[in-house]
Amino acid sequence: MSGRLAVIGLGPGDARYLTREAEDALASADAVYGYSAYLDRVPSRPGQARHGSDNREEPARAAAALRHAAEGANVAVVSGGDPGVFAMAAAVCEQIEAGPPGWRALDVQIVPGITAMLAVAARVGAPLGHDFCAISLSDNLKPWDLIERRLAAAAAAGFVIALYNPASRARPGQIGKALTLLRRHLPAATAIIFGRAVSRPDEQLTITTLEDAGRVPADMATLIIVGSRDTRVIYREDEAPLVYTPRAVAGAMA
Ligand SMILES: C[S@@+](CC[C@H](N)C(=O)[O-])C[C@H]1O[C@@H](n2cnc3c(N)ncnc32)[C@H](O)[C@@H]1O
Repeated sequence: MSGRLAVIGLGPGDARYLTREAEDALASADAVYGYSAYLDRVPSRPGQARHGSDNREEPARAAAALRHAAEGANVAVVSGGDPGVFAMAAAVCEQIEAGPPGWRALDVQIVPGITAMLAVAARVGAPLGHDFCAISLSDNLKPWDLIERRLAAAAAAGFVIALYNPASRARPGQIGKALTLLRRHLPAATAIIFGRAVSRPDEQLTITTLEDAGRVPADMATLIIVGSRDTRVIYREDEAPLVYTPRAVAGAMA
């Protein structure tokens, strides 16, 4: 019997962001594995087993799901946002590469979801309208000095930067250090967006500048978009501002 493993993106929170493909994959699973907070978003179904675990247990969760699939089950692993963005799809691939040969024979499907960066961007306009990159500020799996070098290089190269994992209880100070570094490479007036719990009932959006960004709280439910020198804010009388990055860099459309 050959098993099947689907790594499913749940989107940023609101059930309306769940794709039809994700709904179908969840409905057909014998068992669902995930970080407990994400598993809570999946309606329970009769006969479907649920295996919740802590968010720091990704390798163990991926291995348990693979073992289960290798027994012939149809297994789902859920991730917030997109499973391929700082999430479980890479954890599953790491385990397949390091694990027993039988895991390579499994039917593995990655089901995409709307990542936080896109959900936040859509709330405020089109800040990702030109070249951009995404950087995780977590130094759990890479050294902080590498994060600093990547931030400096991205800012200097003119990328808009989406910052995932800007802070946690164990890492409250890193966003402050990152902002200090970015101020060395970008003008004080650079637009910055803080999107917290986007598409959830406690959603908060703040549009500010690099100069004032230190006053905005950030936690592990926050995604920050740091504009480039080209990013603009359109202020409107009765509507929220629109933040966008023009498709062409200044001077390129003569
Ligand atoms: C471990 S990463 C997982 C990213 C996820 N796979 C995705 O594609 O959005 C967790 C980070 O994603 C961001 N995030 C996830 N959901 C969010 C939401 N609804 N609103 C704002 N940021 C969110 C935050 O930066 C958080 O610290």
